[in-house]
Parts: sequence; structure tokens; C-alpha cells
Amino acid sequence: MSVQIDHLLNETRRFAPTADFANQAIGTSKLYANAADDRLEFWADQARDLLHWHKPFTKVLDWTNPPFAKWFEDGHLNVAWNCLDRHVLAGHGDRVALYFEGEPGDSRAITYAELTAEVKRAANVLTKLGVQAGDRVAIYLPMIPEAVISMLAVARIGAVHSVIFGGFSAESLRSRIDDANAVLVITADGGYRKGRVTPLKPAVDMALTGVPTTVRNVLVVKRTGNEVEWTDRDLWWHDELASVDAEHEAEGFPAENPLFILYTSGTTGKPKGILHTSGGYLTQVAFTHKNVFDLHPETDVYWCTADVGWITGHSYVTYGPLANGATQVLFEGTPDTPHPGRWWEIVEKYKVSILYTAPTAIRTFMKLGRQIPQGFDLSSLRLLGSVGEPINPEAWMWYREVIGGNVAPVVDTWWQTETGAIMISALPGVTVTKPGAAQVPIPGVAIDVLDEAGVHVGHGNGGLLVVTEPWPSMLRGIWGDPERFIETYWEKFGEENPRYFAGDGARLDEDGDIWLLGRVDDVMNVSGHRLSTAEIESSLVSHPMTAEAAVVGAHDETTGQAVVAFVIIKYSHLEESSHEDIQAVLRAHVTQQIGAIARPRQIFIVNELPKTRSGKIIRRLLQDVAEGREIGDTTTLADTSVMQVIKSTLR
Ligand code: WT7
Repeated sequence: MSVQIDHLLNETRRFAPTADFANQAIGTSKLYANAADDRLEFWADQARDLLHWHKPFTKVLDWTNPPFAKWFEDGHLNVAWNCLDRHVLAGHGDRVALYFEGEPGDSRAITYAELTAEVKRAANVLTKLGVQAGDRVAIYLPMIPEAVISMLAVARIGAVHSVIFGGFSAESLRSRIDDANAVLVITADGGYRKGRVTPLKPAVDMALTGVPTTVRNVLVVKRTGNEVEWTDRDLWWHDELASVDAEHEAEGFPAENPLFILYTSGTTGKPKGILHTSGGYLTQVAFTHKNVFDLHPETDVYWCTADVGWITGHSYVTYGPLANGATQVLFEGTPDTPHPGRWWEIVEKYKVSILYTAPTAIRTFMKLGRQIPQGFDLSSLRLLGSVGEPINPEAWMWYREVIGGNVAPVVDTWWQTETGAIMISALPGVTVTKPGAAQVPIPGVAIDVLDEAGVHVGHGNGGLLVVTEPWPSMLRGIWGDPERFIETYWEKFGEENPRYFAGDGARLDEDGDIWLLGRVDDVMNVSGHRLSTAEIESSLVSHPMTAEAAVVGAHDETTGQAVVAFVIIKYSHLEESSHEDIQAVLRAHVTQQIGAIARPRQIFIVNELPKTRSGKIIRRLLQDVAEGREIGDTTTLADTSVMQVIKSTLR
């Protein structure tokens, strides 16, 4: 677990909403009362209030075959229409939907009318290319407007997108395209990153060449103008969009129509394709985006810094904000290019009022010093959100004081790729916030903390975080693997009364508020991105030099956790190459196989790994080594001297 529990126990600072904030707040205590009164009716009200239904639903939840839930099953809606046309028809066509800020400094304001027009054309292109409702489309793009346009165009025709983060390698891309049997890939020539062009199209070519594939076409957005190889299946986005009709009528699809698949790491080597559907998903992302972020769409400028390649970008860049008619910033770059004040310059330029980002970014800014943000006018900020990993109280306080001018409420939002939308968070106009705690389930969501036996732990105790009732934006399964869906999430506390096990540890304080303590399984959290120890281990052992490998997530001041690998190298290679060369080769190998985010911070070359008598690696002991702690209990080791051997080789 990545958070120091003692430290959290001593956290006594409290921040009540100011009267001014509470008086104008969108989310009020009435929401809790209504949800407590009739949870299903509460969600039905949200679905009716926040969305337009082509055909109204009459059923709210079908939970007769758990854990397979159906929400608003007989209703029909068009997700893209809800995010676009409806705002134009309501007279908001001239409102800016996206303030796009490119890394090189190019910028472009796109109104709801313009975004709708682009999505209509893109939808016509998809249809022209033979994409039908239910087909899968892979999207591998930088953070440019076309990423959002592509997602909405796919949704508009009832097809299913699978967005693959641009930092993933050709091999990761290939396995995701294959698993979903995608018929089309949408990519770009490249994107800008840290002042340079990062090509993307070559990775798509590599992923598709020389292997049987279901992909018929590759649609290529011109972003960076770098040379790209061209094959018969390739088409330029701008040519195709210019060649189709400007009109497109959005038809309604059933609420349980699949909307997207998003791959995430689990405890095994193979990423899971998390499946989300339409009506319930859009209801909960719209509800949370509006109430947790206190969205006033006429006046607020919202900015979520996540990439659309992650769930945060799906729910809180594309779907939530656009369903609510918000004006938002879409930023292609990194926080420190071309200068360390880039983010704050953007806040000043667009008068951003709501900022949603990750603790790792906040800690990086803390290290750089407050003089950098203090060089900009941040007075427009009135609400701050955090997501992705536990936020330590110091970072929370710094965020509030330095970025929020000591007045902006901070909401720490806990959720996952699987939950689809925020599950635990303060409501900024209601909750008295506590630095470092996500605190309370949102209205209509049922959370508990249980011990290993499935018993509620009671106030003041720690245990395992579970969701006890189905929720609208819950995952509907793992693509192509219903068994794995059941085993991974629903079996831990028995099949009688299925409860969703999140994989996180949590503690309830004396008030019953929830403090997240980090993952309890073999999943790491590096800069708010989920990585699997098993996936990186299997990449390391796939290299011919490696005999065995073990990977742990070690505490890291900035990124939360960092990847630390322990490898046993085959004897012949040890004789031929230096340790430095071997480490460099393996780091490059992992980057090539998975992507730069999985590259180990450190690789220790060892002779042995700590194992139980049955041969299971005890990662806890390696974590002690990686974090420079005293080695813990070694009595379960098959060979109790092994840790001494490992430690001595590292000195
Ligand atoms: C895991 C989910 C949900 C968006 C980003 C990550 C950790 C997420 C918090 C938070 C403590 C958090 C959990 C969770 N996590 N938000 N506010 N406090 N931990 O999505 O890649 O699906 O990862 O991120 O460990 O299980 P993800």
C-alpha cells in the first residue's frame, strides 16, 4: 500500500464550503436524501433530467442475472446527439466546446455547432467505409480535436471505439486491435511531445503488417506533416471528410448498446478489455461531472488534463463535459514544454475555473516551487479536482493554497476504468473536506469496507473497498471473456450476494469517511497509470538474456510508485555484457513491447529471487529492498538466506 497510514490518522484539518460557494452550488444535500429515499428512482430521474432519450425507458435496472447488469434497457438514445446536436438545437451552437491548445502553441476554438458539423461528416465517412453499428474502431491519436471527433463519430453510428493511448507501442496496439477485431484504425501522422514530433502512423503500420488482420482501412489525420509510408488501405482524414455529405441524422440505439472498450492492466500479463455501454454510462458521467465539479456551463471553463487514451479522458474530457454542454480546454502538450509554467499560462489565457488533474502532477509542481504558478493569474480557478492515486495531505494542501488561492475547494475523486465514472468524492458545496481523503460515496452509489471474511470493518478500521450495489456506469464485462469478468471482480466475497471488489485497500475514519490506501493486488500505480507487475515480468522474460524476473511497484516521491525490476540473467550473457548494457537493453525491450510508461526506473541484476516452498515469488520482500527498508518476515521463504544474498549483490 502506497500511503503511510499513521500519517493519515493524524490529519485533522477540515475545510467547510464557504457560504458563497454553497449558495451557488449545483450539487446540494438534497441529492443524498433523494438517493437514500429510492436509489433506483434517483438514477432514473438523473437519466431523464440529464439526457435526451429517443425512446424513453420504462425499466431502470435488471439485476436478475448478476453480475451482468442492464440499466434503462428498453430506452433508446444516441450518445453523440446528446453531446452535440441537442446543445445546438437548444440555442448554444455558438458556445465554445473545445479550446484546443496544441503543443507548439497553435490554438483553435471550436463551437458546439462546428464540433457537431465535424462529427456528422466523420460519421458519414465511417459509414462510407462500411463501419456498422457494433463494429469496433481503434483510435490511436494524440490529444487533438480529431480524437474527440472520432470517438463521437463512432458513437453516433452505434459502433464501438477502442482508444489506445498514443504512448503505447506497436505491439500493444496490435494485441488490442486483434483482441477487439477492429475493422478500422484512426490515427495521425504524428503528435507533438516535448518540442518534438512523435510519429504515430509507423506504429500502426508495424502493428498491421505481415499478420492477418480484420482491419480494412486506416484513416490518417495530418497533424505534424512528417513523411509517412502509404499503403492501399490508408486514407487521409481531410480528403475523406471533404468527400462526404455534411448532414447526418443520429438514430437512437438501445441503452445497453456497447459504447467502448478500454484496455487496462490487471493482475495477469494480458490486458483486459473493459466494456462500457451507453445509457447508464452517460447518465453517471454527466451526473458526476455536473455535481462533483459544480459545473455552470454558461460561465465555467473546465480543464481536465488527462489524455483521451485513459478512462479519465473518456469520461471527463469527451463524454461528461460535452453531455453537459461545457466549455473546456483540450491540451496536447506536457506540463513543462516549452517552460515549466505552461499549464498556468493556459489557466490564465482561458480563465480556467475548474481544473481536474492527478497528484503526480501536483507533486511535480511542488518540487519546482510555488514561484512558477505564482507568476500567473490563477484567480479564475474556483474548484480543483484530483484523480488517479491517493493524494497525500501535503500535496492536497499545496494544491488548495498555491493553485486554489486558499479558497477553491479540492475534491479527491476515487474511481476506476471499470467503474466508468466517479464513485467516491466530496460534493464541493456540501462536504466538509479533509486533506487526503476521498471521503464519501456519491449519491446513489453504495460503498463498503470489508475484512477478508466479508465483514464490515467499522469506523476506525482498514480493509478492502467494495461496491455493494450495481451502479449505472459499471463495466458490463471484459471483452470476449465473461468468466474472467466474474472471477476478477465478483467472487471474492461469495456468489450469494455479489459485491464488486475494486482491488484497493481503504480505511474508514471515526466519522465513517473513506481514505484510500492503494492497491492490494499486483497492480502498480505509476503517475496515476495502472500497470501490471505480471505484464512487465512477462515482457522481461521474453528477452533471450533473461532467465527470471520479478517486478514491484516501489514508493516514489513524485510518481507515487515506480517500476523496479529484479532479473536473473542467463550466465552466458553475464559473461559477455556489462550490467549497464544489460539494463539498457532490457529497459529498451520493455519500452518497445509495452510502451515508455512501463519502462523500469531501476533493474537489479540478482542471482536469486525470494520464493515460497511452492515457488511463488514473494514480492513484498523485494519491495522492502526497492524501498530501502529493513527486510520483513522471511519465514515463508524456501531458502531463508536468499534475501541476504540478494542484498549483498546490490551493495
Ligand atoms: C485505480 C484505478 C479513475 C481514473 C484514473 C485511474 C487508483 C484512482 C484514486 C483516488 C486513491 C485512486 C485506485 C484505482 N485511484 N483514483 N482518488 N484515490 N486511489 O484509473 O487506471 O483504472 O486505475 O487508480 O487504485 O483502483 P485506472
